[in-house]
Amino acid sequence: MPGLRGVSAQVQALLAAAARRVPTSRLRRMVRGLRRLSTPEGRTVWLLERSRRVDLLQPSPHTWEERYPALFDALAERLAHFPQPRLLSFGCSTGEEVRALRRRLPDALIDAVEVNPRSIARARAAGSDPKTRYIVADRPDPAARYDAVLALAVFRHRELEGYAPSSCAGILPFASAAQAAARLDAVLVPGGWLAFANANFCLLDLLPDAGYAPEPERFGVPEAVTLYGPDDMRLSGEVYTPVLFRKPAS
Ligand SMILES: C[S@@+](CC[C@H](N)C(=O)[O-])C[C@H]1O[C@@H](n2cnc3c(N)ncnc32)[C@H](O)[C@@H]1O
Repeated sequence: MPGLRGVSAQVQALLAAAARRVPTSRLRRMVRGLRRLSTPEGRTVWLLERSRRVDLLQPSPHTWEERYPALFDALAERLAHFPQPRLLSFGCSTGEEVRALRRRLPDALIDAVEVNPRSIARARAAGSDPKTRYIVADRPDPAARYDAVLALAVFRHRELEGYAPSSCAGILPFASAAQAAARLDAVLVPGGWLAFANANFCLLDLLPDAGYAPEPERFGVPEAVTLYGPDDMRLSGEVYTPVLFRKPAS
């Protein structure tokens, strides 16, 4: 273990001995945790992860501009006949997704729901937009209605991706994801579009009776690598994971 400044040789020897007993994967996880706590963003995520009042899915706010251009284009094409489509960007992080949608749908009304208040503050600071509402919440308003809902890189967890445990139960149980998916389904109008990608679950498993029709194309979104089924167990083999779905018209 490299020397730690200001820590006595005895304590260093104790730490080194302890490190030898901890499995490397756990040690790596601990180091990653400590690194996260060293930034304000990391501390906000850490607090959210420990909050009992929030139904947190993916804790990481990682996003970037134009992350899914072909999918955004496809959605805009399908909504082109609406004078003012209503969109929900669920888990919008710092607003890059919302700005990508705005470029394609200048008249849309966009609700951007995000559980991380620090991310929402950054999204708001990036510029005002009278037709976008940034909302700090862990679920959509049940009274709202949308013509399209996006849930991209939200129904996943960095620890499922990073460690691929055989069960997701202790990290993000299937039942929690299914409840969150049902809340999105409830606010999407019949005939509406759901973009659901970059997830550790298949939408058709989460909402088996809702009758969603998948589009065959993947719009450049990579296949999910770690997937879990209704029994919380990791799925093996090839699994078909479409990314754009239409809700039945009635
Ligand atoms: C990896 S980011 C995805 C951002 C963007 N959608 C994208 O694909 O680039 C996942 C975001 O989902 C948010 N999130 C997780 N659980 C949520 C929940 N229950 N309600 C709203 N946002 C949530 C996290 O705070 C995080 O900012």
